[in-house]
Amino acid sequence: MSRTLLIAAAGERAESWTKAFAEIAPEIDVRMHGPGLDVSRIPYCLVWRAAPGLWPAMTNLKIIFGLGAGVDRLLADPSLPRDVPLVRMVEPELTRGMVEYVLWQCLFHHRKVWELEAAQSCATWRPHTYPAPWERTIGIMGLGELGTAAAAKLVEFGFKVRGWSRSPKALPKVESFQGAEQLPAFLAASEILVCLLPLTPETRGILNASLFALLPRGASVINAARGGHLVEADLSAAMASGQITAATLDVFETEPLPADHVFWSTERLYITPHNASITDPRSAAWRISRQIAKCEAGEELDNVVDRARGY
Ligand code: NAP
Ligand code: GLV
Repeated sequence: MSRTLLIAAAGERAESWTKAFAEIAPEIDVRMHGPGLDVSRIPYCLVWRAAPGLWPAMTNLKIIFGLGAGVDRLLADPSLPRDVPLVRMVEPELTRGMVEYVLWQCLFHHRKVWELEAAQSCATWRPHTYPAPWERTIGIMGLGELGTAAAAKLVEFGFKVRGWSRSPKALPKVESFQGAEQLPAFLAASEILVCLLPLTPETRGILNASLFALLPRGASVINAARGGHLVEADLSAAMASGQITAATLDVFETEPLPADHVFWSTERLYITPHNASITDPRSAAWRISRQIAKCEAGEELDNVVDRARGY
């Protein structure tokens, strides 16, 4: 049982996970969670959302690996063992996918693609104008693993980039703002606002009417973090008033987004189905196997969640 990993998350991707471990980390004995499996002696678990009763049954756990970068759902479970390290997902493909998404959506909003859509819908040749990237300011909320990488790519494209985090940062060509006091100054010039914050008690509902009011009029909002960051009714009101021109949302309070939700029919609101970026099984299998090796060697683990901070 020493290198047994329970996968309690894979769903329809189960096969790609078992294949990835077999190829990349054959030393790990992978078990898929299912009825009748005795999990009491399994030391490692990879999980997205724990089924009821999973944690009390895992009586010999050494590490919990979150399948995603965000661990808000895992932390919200009162049965999550308190004394077992929770390691969140950091792997290069997840980061690359998010950088691609942020760049794609920032360019989409920068070029105001909805103006082209409107012209095309009435077969009208209407060349529209847009500023150069260095005349456009993009603000990124959260300068962690994903926000930092996205900021670097936007800088490479020539945008003016600013970021907001809890602690000060020194990133090349990124103007850094920290903490609640500097939030208004950060927002004041953010024409395209990208949310890449973890969902914590402090950040829940942060994308709300008062925050939107501090953005330049006509700003765009991109939320690729968690649905709980956004007060949905406040976005609808801000878009109706013209304070926010357009938005892209990848994440929602209720997922899948219900078919009768007003967002489906809101003009200039673009929806992606929580797939801005996806953990890559091969890249993750390698990372997890390294962490298990570290644990066995008595070394410190990487990316352990600070439970007091919530991320
Ligand atoms: P991370 O490395 O933990 O970075 C979090 C960043 O947020 C840090 O810069 C942190 O500041 C900042 N932050 C946290 N609380 C704050 C607060 N109260 N005020 C200001 N800044 C605060 O996380 P990550 O790996 O970049 O991932 C971010 C989130 O993206 C995840 O939690 C997840 O919800 C989401 N995500 C979504 C998808 C998707 O497909 N939609 C995919 C992956 C991840 P410090 O640097 O000062 O600590
Ligand atoms: C996806 O939402 C993640 O947190 O990795």
